[in-house]
Amino acid sequence: MELKNVKAIVTGAASGMGFHFAKRIAEAGGQVAAGDVNEAGLAELPAGVHKRKLDVGSSADVSAFTKWAAESMGGLNVVISNAGILRDGLLVKKDKETGEIKVMSDDQFNAVINVNLTGATIVVREGVAEMARRKEKGVVIPMSSVARHGNRGQSNYVSAKAALAANAVTWAKEFGVFGIRAVAIAPGMVETPMTQGMNQKARDMLVEKIPVGRIGTPEDLWLGVKFAIECEYLNGTTIDIDGGAKL
Ligand SMILES: NC(=O)c1ccc[n+]([C@@H]2O[C@H](COP(=O)([O-])OP(=O)(O)OC[C@H]3O[C@@H](n4cnc5c(N)ncnc54)[C@H](O)[C@@H]3O)[C@@H](O)[C@H]2O)c1
Repeated sequence: MELKNVKAIVTGAASGMGFHFAKRIAEAGGQVAAGDVNEAGLAELPAGVHKRKLDVGSSADVSAFTKWAAESMGGLNVVISNAGILRDGLLVKKDKETGEIKVMSDDQFNAVINVNLTGATIVVREGVAEMARRKEKGVVIPMSSVARHGNRGQSNYVSAKAALAANAVTWAKEFGVFGIRAVAIAPGMVETPMTQGMNQKARDMLVEKIPVGRIGTPEDLWLGVKFAIECEYLNGTTIDIDGGAKL
């Protein structure tokens, strides 16, 4: 698909990679419907981008957003399911002072699952349903992560990101009948507000281990998203864009 023909939903578009993807699609002449819980961030996107508040944790909200997006753009052919959060912590740990054994709370685990797995999947579900109703072909692009292989302190996040990568295969098999492809993107460490919030020492140690010698940029990831949109033979796979990093 050529970028100028794109009619895309981008979730988590108020900052970081989602913001960059929405901007790049608009610059290439495509249409974008940008959603995020952060309305102030959405307002910073270029004037031509359709913007609306969206909480991917609410399926009613996702359904209403998707219908609005398709109506605003006169169609829908790309869904970039990108909204995500971190709530890192060990699943079970020993308190350094008291020796007490503590566990990750249900709330901490579920908060990440609700946004990064359930929410991200409902965005795909509603997007594909709308494309199928409109008989439009296209591609869904969930954002996975290098963490999908397993990473200390991220049981919740790993669970969600591994599932999205596996489901790129599931969805390619299920959505082929509608002419819709599924390609997951798995970033390594990328310079965005998400990583800017990390402990500086931990961040520096991780960056040092990246074989290309630097942190990724949203533009590095955009090149992968662009490829997933343009290459109509790419399907049912996860593209690792991580500078060669392994956690
Ligand atoms: N930055 C990295 O190093 C990195 C690495 C691997 C994967 N990822 C993934 O890439 C995606 C984008 O990450 P980023 O680094 O740009 O993060 P970011 O924090 O800059 O942006 C994420 C956006 O999602 C939005 N969001 C959070 N909860 C939401 C909800 N319930 N509904 C709608 N929007 C919501 C936030 O408001 C924010 O604007 C995420 O899925 C993240 O897990 C990031």
